[in-house]
Amino acid sequence: MLIQAPKGTKDILPKDSYIWQFIESIIRQEAELYGYREIRTPVFEHTELFARGVGDTTDIVQKEMYTFQDKGGRSITLKPEGTAGTVRAILESRLYTEILPCKVYYLNCPVFRYENPQHGRLREHHQLGFECFGIAGPSADAELILFLLQLLKRLGLKGLSVSLNSIGCPKCRPVYNQALKTFLGDHLQELCPQCQERFQKNPLRILDCKEDSCKLILKDAPSILDTLCDECDDHFVKLQDLLKLSGVEARIDPRIVRGLDYYTKTVFEIMIKADRGDIALCGGGRYDGLVEQLGGPPTPGVGFGLGLERLIMELNKQAVHIPEPNLVDVFVAYIGQNAKNAAFLLTQNLRVNGIKADCEQMDRGLKAQMRYANKINCPIVALLGDDELAKGSVRLKMMREREEKDIPIEDALDTIKQNIER
Ligand code: HAM
Repeated sequence: MLIQAPKGTKDILPKDSYIWQFIESIIRQEAELYGYREIRTPVFEHTELFARGVGDTTDIVQKEMYTFQDKGGRSITLKPEGTAGTVRAILESRLYTEILPCKVYYLNCPVFRYENPQHGRLREHHQLGFECFGIAGPSADAELILFLLQLLKRLGLKGLSVSLNSIGCPKCRPVYNQALKTFLGDHLQELCPQCQERFQKNPLRILDCKEDSCKLILKDAPSILDTLCDECDDHFVKLQDLLKLSGVEARIDPRIVRGLDYYTKTVFEIMIKADRGDIALCGGGRYDGLVEQLGGPPTPGVGFGLGLERLIMELNKQAVHIPEPNLVDVFVAYIGQNAKNAAFLLTQNLRVNGIKADCEQMDRGLKAQMRYANKINCPIVALLGDDELAKGSVRLKMMREREEKDIPIEDALDTIKQNIER
């Protein structure tokens, strides 16, 4: 029996990898425009990093992590998100002592969550993440939101909007937690068992519950925006002003708390129009306490994560055209054994001179070789046979123009180059 890929994982096949490469190249160009440099961290970390960083009352830590003991008896977890590992790496390498702000991004970071695979939810997905350390003011938050809008628009997505909230700081959040607890007091028994536990440990998390019964109770819950301290309120107002000045009207949604505990002040999601209302394509926020929580000096931080599979799903849904490159620009075909080595050598000469080329290596007849060249949509076929060898020439077939000509073999390179540039 064939072994199948584990549930919730997806292969990226050669027929689709050009889409990923195209997106990656645009992301790299845009990241450079905003002064972000790439960071790559390990796929697994010590479990404690996520328990401390992401928060042990979150769904991610409680239900979704891929955790195992390694042969040395250590508890190891496959990354369930990219921020905690990035902070760990920056602290360990003392990057924050070199230059601030420290602006980094990770691209194609594998992320593992034991979720119920459904539309758009995978057990392994890949994230683009941006993390900015050292800037306390709202300009860093605004910059990330503007980056995302610019990137997504450049990729051709339509129907985007920004949802924004502030979830306060350790000074004012307890005030909201108390207000929420007072509101929920009468409904405690109606909450799901997990929310009953959250009620004690981390009431804000209840706002993120996916259970319909909890959602219903929360309909009339107080808004966190009413209990922000002056500093958080000022940050939130200035962020909205800056976005407005940049031409972005964000929708304020006091229900956004996001699924990770490290956020302070700003949380945001980039929404995209779907059949049943807007859905979140990606999100992020500020985490001013995380660096300290993980053993570093007090350092403000803000970032976002974007699932690349989800992005590609949207691009497909909106039928955005991504140009597919030719597999090769020249296919060298041959007739008869005498021309076989000459075809091989010509192909190699083309490649050495920067031309994407391949040649027949399966000993197929000419008809089958031409069928193959058609199948891979190759624009030029260079044909060698006994006649061409005798004349010192090569026959070039321009497949799209349906033209062909004999040229001296020493001119093959230049002529092919000219035709590709055309
Ligand atoms: P997150 O919202 O949990 O945030 O994930 C970020 C994005 O990853 C989501 O908006 C979505 O695009 C994608 N994503 C999440 N889970 C799945 C899944 N199961 N299958 C497919 N795609 C998924 C974070 O992870 C934070 N670390 C983001 C951040 C960075 N905040 C600050 N810095």
